[in-house]
Amino acid sequence: MIKVALPKGRIADDTLEIFRKIFGLTFIFEDRKLILDEGDFRFFLVRNQDIPTYVTEGAADIGVVGLDVLEEHKVDVVRLLDMRVGNCKVCVGVRQDDTIDYTRPEIKIATKMPNIARNYFAQKAIALKIIKLYGSIELAPLVGLADAIVDVVETGTTMKQNGLKVAETIMQSSAHLIANKNSFIIKKDEILSLYHKIKAEISK
Ligand code: PRP
Repeated sequence: MIKVALPKGRIADDTLEIFRKIFGLTFIFEDRKLILDEGDFRFFLVRNQDIPTYVTEGAADIGVVGLDVLEEHKVDVVRLLDMRVGNCKVCVGVRQDDTIDYTRPEIKIATKMPNIARNYFAQKAIALKIIKLYGSIELAPLVGLADAIVDVVETGTTMKQNGLKVAETIMQSSAHLIANKNSFIIKKDEILSLYHKIKAEISK
């Protein structure tokens, strides 16, 4: 059996759809259920940011997670495949009428991705204050908590509806298939077989 950690939401739905096409099984989670056994697989539904923990600790053999999360947490796993779902980008956002003033003595950035933000602004040699938030990041510049945000942009709707715009793009992201290093040795045949099936399916 292969244990698969999936991030709740669109990426899990899109990944399960790929599994359905390959294996012809149902792969549907009940309303609030967090574990699903189907065929040779056991799926876990977890928060996006928790996927690296499940996989590195070996509670899951493989997982699907955004490249942004892998970059943020510098996760020690085997990166197998770009699943070509969950496409988004990590951007610096400011108020519509604003720009980032690099001459300021310090720039305050609100984000749930402090490492990506710090690395990005380190290249620009400015003083940075990171304000770590856990959600609704777009609110921060509107209420004077931060000068700008570093956050995920998918459709751009959240920024638009809150009067923000993309000032700079830091990185493109999409969901990647990853494996626990030990699982990749112990269950190599099963994991590689799955890898080849997924690769063939998403290349159609
Ligand atoms: C993410 C992200 C943005 C939004 C971007 O938040 O942090 O707020 O999605 O998507 P969009 O460009 O399609 O509008 P999420 O929905 O995960 O909620 P959170 O703020 O609670 O983390």
